Amino acid sequence: MQNLLNHLTKIVSQGGLIQGEQLKALGLPRYMQPGAIIRPSSTEEVAEILKLCHQHQQSIVPMGGLTGLVQGTQCNNTDIGLWLQRMNKIEVIDNQSRTMTVQAGTALQTIQEAAEQAGLIFPLDLGARGSATIGGNVATNAGGNRVIRYGMTREQILGMEVVLADGTILSSMKKITKDNTGYDLKQLFIGSEGTLGIVTRVVLKLRPAPSTQDMAFIGTNNFKQVTDFLNFAETSLGGSLSAYEVLWHDYYQLVTSPPASGKPPLAQQYKYYILLEALGGDSKNDHSRFVECLEQALENNLIDDAVIAKNQAECQAMWAIRDDVTQVRQNSPVFTFDVSISLDQMESYIEQLQLSLNTQWATNSCMVFGHLGDGNLHLNIGVGDNSTATREAVVKTVYSGLTSRGGSISAEHGVGIQKKKYLALTKSATEIALMKKIKQAFDPRHILNPNKIFDQSSIS
Ligand code: LAC
Ligand code: ZN
Repeated sequence: MQNLLNHLTKIVSQGGLIQGEQLKALGLPRYMQPGAIIRPSSTEEVAEILKLCHQHQQSIVPMGGLTGLVQGTQCNNTDIGLWLQRMNKIEVIDNQSRTMTVQAGTALQTIQEAAEQAGLIFPLDLGARGSATIGGNVATNAGGNRVIRYGMTREQILGMEVVLADGTILSSMKKITKDNTGYDLKQLFIGSEGTLGIVTRVVLKLRPAPSTQDMAFIGTNNFKQVTDFLNFAETSLGGSLSAYEVLWHDYYQLVTSPPASGKPPLAQQYKYYILLEALGGDSKNDHSRFVECLEQALENNLIDDAVIAKNQAECQAMWAIRDDVTQVRQNSPVFTFDVSISLDQMESYIEQLQLSLNTQWATNSCMVFGHLGDGNLHLNIGVGDNSTATREAVVKTVYSGLTSRGGSISAEHGVGIQKKKYLALTKSATEIALMKKIKQAFDPRHILNPNKIFDQSSIS
């Protein structure tokens, strides 16, 4: 590898190659032990790097903000990390077409702030916004808290520049929404987890900035209310609904009790807590429409209780409660899951899961919360032990009810290393075979993020 590294280092500017002690000093997560890291500054440099790596059949693991949750950047000393850290420039913000042209290593929060300064918003939002990069968001098709209104990352991308495995630059930095000219190739790279190409630049779709934000915490005692109220709120809020997060009782109690810093906005007695948010553009009427929606829902028993945020600080406090995910570590060791399930199946799925956990482990914790409006739940399960056998048993318990209900083992976090063993529970053999054909066509020498999504040895 050293011979190749000597060539690679000439491609990048000063300090672009990290090795040895300098690499150790980075303190990367344990599952990341690359032989070296190379940091290009432009698409052309990425292309030259890939061309050489392709010639030498050298594996490359793309790195962004390293905030992924499925070990999608796992690597060992035979791999070279390709870190897009230096490609962090916002190139253009165009108010007329409402687009932003940006390099892949730019942090999501930097993009959000720049859009805001231009009087617009970039609506993708998630807890890791400060470190997560747009390239990583694209590679994983990141979701987050406002998908119900604006869609996943896929919906925010108009144009893309990608470097293919052999160093070819595929550039389609268009600002247009509609382009029905055959295969939409950029879609293949979105959510491909760095296995098909290296995304280096994108054109993002921006949206008008909302002028109002209304939020409430809501308590209900049965699941039918949760789904009925979702339908009701979508209609009565006139399209301004922007988040519909639900916290099951145990999770709400955990994140609103010490040592968590959040105070319970509603008593801890309900079975389900809905975090409702509306973003609108009608400062005169939005708030009264929001209040009226909740009043009517209370009158019609669609909900049992509600508290409305009085100002921005209270809105932030409500989000902080929802997002205080690290509290689940109180029940360590915990196994975390990110599942999708349609709303008509969700209640029976969770009930059956809890029953099954109780039968197998007398003492267990099952914290459930997530983007219910998108049919996406995060499960954090603790059974007091994290041996491999126990993990397998918990995984089996969680996944067994999903396949029969047409759900997915990963709603938004991706497959990476963590979920690949279970891919066949979500995708058919025909789908997986076609995915492997695509991988083979795009990366015949298997140099791009090897062993993610599926085992290298299973691709021919
Ligand atoms: C969240 C992350 C875990 O929704 O996806 O908080
Ligand atoms: Zn999430």
